[in-house]
Amino acid sequence: MGTQTKPAQFGVVGMGVMGASLALNIADHGFRVAVWDRHPENITKVQQQNPKQALAGFPELEAFVAGLERPRRVLLMITAGAPVDQMMERLFPLLSPGDVIMDAGNSWYLDTRRREALCKEKGFHFLGIGVSGGEEGARNGPSIMPGGPKDAYALVQPVLEAIAARSEEGLCVTHVGPEGAGHFVKMVHNGIEYADMQLLAETYDVLRRGLGLETAQLGDLFSKWNEGIAESFLLETTIKVMRKRDPETGKPLLDLVLDKAGQKGTGKWTVQVALDLGVPVPSIASALDARNLSAHKDERVAASKKLHGPTVSLSSEEQKELAQWAHDALYAARVVTYAQGMRLIQAASDEYKWGVSLAEMARIWRGGCIIRAKLLTPLREAFQQQPTLPNLLVSEAFAPVLEKLAPSWRKFLGTATKAGIPVPVFSSSLAYMDSYRSPELPQNLTQAQRDAFGAHTYQRRDKPDAGFVHSDWLK
Ligand code: 6PG
Repeated sequence: MGTQTKPAQFGVVGMGVMGASLALNIADHGFRVAVWDRHPENITKVQQQNPKQALAGFPELEAFVAGLERPRRVLLMITAGAPVDQMMERLFPLLSPGDVIMDAGNSWYLDTRRREALCKEKGFHFLGIGVSGGEEGARNGPSIMPGGPKDAYALVQPVLEAIAARSEEGLCVTHVGPEGAGHFVKMVHNGIEYADMQLLAETYDVLRRGLGLETAQLGDLFSKWNEGIAESFLLETTIKVMRKRDPETGKPLLDLVLDKAGQKGTGKWTVQVALDLGVPVPSIASALDARNLSAHKDERVAASKKLHGPTVSLSSEEQKELAQWAHDALYAARVVTYAQGMRLIQAASDEYKWGVSLAEMARIWRGGCIIRAKLLTPLREAFQQQPTLPNLLVSEAFAPVLEKLAPSWRKFLGTATKAGIPVPVFSSSLAYMDSYRSPELPQNLTQAQRDAFGAHTYQRRDKPDAGFVHSDWLK
């Protein structure tokens, strides 16, 4: 199966869609690539489908590793979790000190930390690399988020830079930080992706049920939006989805898709980590809940017969303005969603001392990845101008925009709520913004309650030096 005479400069393990696409992308850029898969027929398939790219395929792992120039650079694109550990165990006896293992799957960042430490002990380098952009991105230019030791990154940098997407703001790859920083950032990317997708789903729902727009009409409306500030890859994808017709029935294919959302787990991880770090990410959590609730289709159908909502009846102002309110709300809520994700990355970077640059993350997300969007440009500028910005919402670039769009957002939510159409991410995002901008929150009552029933103590505003005190509330 091997077709190259000189040793390969890069090895890819895992010839699934993503691994094969990355291997072909690397070969396109003039690197000699060796590939391996536990099912040799997958190697043959990729080679036969791509006769022009000289991928050297090895059915035996030993021969694959022996066919790599040193230091060996082996990228794993396999199922995250135990398979990565098993693969590493198989590779260890075949590798030499100084070789680099890269895990490019959606791995849990603490696994990445552990694997890096293990490799270090054995004299190998380890990089945990977030890769975004799906099959198309992997093949033609993904956004790449590598984490791990900088000297290891230097050994693979030319290859990663050659294959990464390019935007007007440069190459969509940079060294994110040490340890699991790359996988952490990729995980948060996916969390933002969940929220952004759900915002689009809610917009679609309110407009179809509120205004009675057909799927194709919505595609046309979204297409106009995509020419302005709301431009994004996910909006563009949504338009394509809305315009696709089912070849069998001629109906919009979207109308035939069952409304039960799946997930692979990165959104859930984002929310779990956010809880651990004490960082509120309600937009992402609501998007996750929306997927979870959607999965209970049978219960929902049964409940719809018992719990009746209001009849959708819009005023003439609502009919006229709803689409514009939706547009403004979508942009503003999206800003809030990205703000939460960025805040979470900052918190992890502080906790683990990773030194992640939020401006750089926004820059490498500008092309290739699923959440690439026009708003990432002002977002990057905001963090560039003020790297210690506590939250994007208070940046000079976004605070005035949010203030300007908030009235439309409130009207959009009001209309949806009055009509009984669920808008969980739009509402939780607005509640986040309203809470964040509130100098006074009702948690004085929470503290008093805690102290009343559990003697958990509280602080007095009028005696800041008194520390935590207790009162006998119930007598
Ligand atoms: C990407 C995507 C990719 C994938 C996720 C999310 O950046 O290319 O985020 O990683 O779409 O696996 O999948 P789920 O929606 O199934 O969790």
